[in-house]
Amino acid sequence: MHNFFQNFDFAQLNSPDFKEDSVREVLILPLLQQLGYNNTQIVRSKTFQNPFVKTASGKRALQQTPDYLLRIADSYAWVLDAKAPNENITDGGNVEQAYFYAIHPEVRTKFFALCNGKAFSLFRHDTAQPILYFELPDIAQHWDALSSYLSPGSFQSGKTFTYQSVKKANTTQQFDYLNQPLLEEIPVHKQSAKRHFGVHGYFTKQTWNVVAEYIKNFSQVGDLVLDPFGGSGVTAIEALMNNRQGIHLDLNPMSTFMVDSLLLLQ
Ligand SMILES: C[S@@+](CC[C@H](N)C(=O)[O-])C[C@H]1O[C@@H](n2cnc3c(N)ncnc32)[C@H](O)[C@@H]1O
Repeated sequence: MHNFFQNFDFAQLNSPDFKEDSVREVLILPLLQQLGYNNTQIVRSKTFQNPFVKTASGKRALQQTPDYLLRIADSYAWVLDAKAPNENITDGGNVEQAYFYAIHPEVRTKFFALCNGKAFSLFRHDTAQPILYFELPDIAQHWDALSSYLSPGSFQSGKTFTYQSVKKANTTQQFDYLNQPLLEEIPVHKQSAKRHFGVHGYFTKQTWNVVAEYIKNFSQVGDLVLDPFGGSGVTAIEALMNNRQGIHLDLNPMSTFMVDSLLLLQ
């Protein structure tokens, strides 16, 4: 990312001719492409079927449409609103407007961002302060953070939760087991070619991809994951599938027999 915007003269932003449309075309679009979004994932100026949001003080009409919605699979992952260089992107009406786009029932994203060409600010729908803010000429220093929040790979099945990537487990930073963020609703995957869970009808069967997301969120690669009420074995199996170690315990011999067999440990 060291060369990003290297050929752009940021002094142009001081010209009255460099308006919001220039910010979109010259700065935002290349940024979205560099993050990894292709044209079909970048939705411009979506029109709302029902252009209202409910707020504590009543129904509020949305006068405009979001400049960009970033789509992953069938859902929107985040909203980005472009502004002219002299506009405020850290608080006030512009931030409020982008927030309303994010919480709109036809959008529903956890993250929303604003960019006025000079700076970029990223918000979560549940925090008043930006969770990331940087001046655009300094983007290289913030690229890792930006892309870990907003690249297409940070979203799964179009739902707006991020998860601990395998790469990150090797950092020297302490992993805070007790304070990992809770995940948003996880879409259920009924079956997968790599999984066994369709082949039995053990009565407690939980959805494998939901268990997998929790394991990835609350543990690191190489950790030991214990399920003392293991049932169908989904926890131990997803632990192994995600490069953890697993311990499966269950009172019911049917359960331990099944899991032993599935894992070919006998
Ligand atoms: C809620 S289920 C487990 C759900 C599991 N995650 C799954 O996907 O199948 C509870 C399991 O706990 C087992 N169980 C109940 N009491 C137990 C005990 N005292 N010690 C160990 N296992 C027990 C039951 O046999 C049952 O398989």
